[in-house]
Amino acid sequence: MDILRVMGGHRLKGSVNINGSKNAALPIMAASLMSSGEVILNDVPELEDISVMIRALESLGAHIKREGHTLIIDSSHIHRFQVDESIARRMRASNLLMGALLGRFGQARVAYPGGCAIGSRPMDIHIKGFQRLGYDISDLPGYMDGRANQVNGREIMLDIPSVGATENIMMAAVFAPGQTLLRNAAREPEIVDLQNFLNRMGARIRGAGLDCIRIDGVKTLRGTEHSVISDRIEAGTFMVAAALTRGDVWVENVILEHLQPVIAKLGETGAEIMTRPGRVRVIGNRNYSATDIKTMPYPGFPTDMQAQMMSFLCMTPGTSVIVENIFENRFMHVQELRRMGAEIKIEGRVAIISGGKLKGAAVEASDLRAGAALILAGLGAEGETRISRLDHLDRGYERIHERFQALGADIVRERTVDN
Ligand code: UD1
Repeated sequence: MDILRVMGGHRLKGSVNINGSKNAALPIMAASLMSSGEVILNDVPELEDISVMIRALESLGAHIKREGHTLIIDSSHIHRFQVDESIARRMRASNLLMGALLGRFGQARVAYPGGCAIGSRPMDIHIKGFQRLGYDISDLPGYMDGRANQVNGREIMLDIPSVGATENIMMAAVFAPGQTLLRNAAREPEIVDLQNFLNRMGARIRGAGLDCIRIDGVKTLRGTEHSVISDRIEAGTFMVAAALTRGDVWVENVILEHLQPVIAKLGETGAEIMTRPGRVRVIGNRNYSATDIKTMPYPGFPTDMQAQMMSFLCMTPGTSVIVENIFENRFMHVQELRRMGAEIKIEGRVAIISGGKLKGAAVEASDLRAGAALILAGLGAEGETRISRLDHLDRGYERIHERFQALGADIVRERTVDN
């Protein structure tokens, strides 16, 4: 078992390059199986979740070459349409193979997904969308099973703007004759990247990034080359780290528009933020003030940055309030932050934080972003923090400790002896 040892109190300085987005790469990898032509994907981060998606695609018959951050995907030999439980349980995003397989082959069987334990995360909105397009979906023990019946473009209204449902339904509608109108769609940048990728392959999709997406059915898709957008959550994580260590860091290779909610909130606390095309500089301050945050669908404040901001606000004088509107059970990091001396009261979806000092402790990452939040807490705390359950962190951050080291953090990864 690996742990991270973080010695707090070092100001971060220098520059860090942001990788391609995990949450954009995963649906794009799923969508690559919709063409029998060769797909080349650049800027794919080297993460455990990406390896799981590679294994999932290979289990269906795809041939994949991985060269650093580039994937070459050949889906001309797909002969299976079933994603097994052993893969689906490891990552919720494996559900995206449902829309892609239904779209190209008109049949799919995908085990109900796992992933971060941050709420019940049902699939009802995805399933209703598939059914509305004309797919028969049945519930087998542990699996969703789908078959094309009378598939046609239709108007679909999502109950809530679910990111995954928007992506899945977009893929399932690419070949549906006529026009599909997807209303109350999620507007996240990763959906725009999926649209751009599908359109490069020959799909006809407009409107991603707005709440109504139009998909005109096409007959085939060809191979293409595409570069994945930069990861706004990874960028946000380094920005908060720079602020809370009172550092001075250039975060490079970012899309500034995607960072606006984080830039606005950090600015409100008193961090100095300078932007230049493709890069942002965060300069820490001595006197931060408390702030309030509500997580919302894009372009609101991202739920995937909630835990990291909480670590920061735990060390910011005054009372801050965080409302988690997206997931019902996304405060598992609170218990670990309390071990470090944080004062946080939870009432349902609301966390009330009284800022003070944190002290190093032994803590456990309960999910991916909670893991990132604990690193940030450790960077700002007095003494040593030891973080275990790094498997969660490895799912979504590439060599994160080395990148913090390069900014001057005292952080090492160690193997401990299992009992
Ligand atoms: C994606 C992101 C995840 C991010 C989340 C919200 C990927 C791979 N993951 O997850 O990092 O935290 O968006 O920005 O891109 N819901 C239902 N029924 C459904 C589908 C969703 O009730 O059929 C609910 C969920 O339980 C949750 C909310 O909708 O409460 C939002 O979930 P959704 O937007 O679907 O998140 P994911 O696509 O799973």
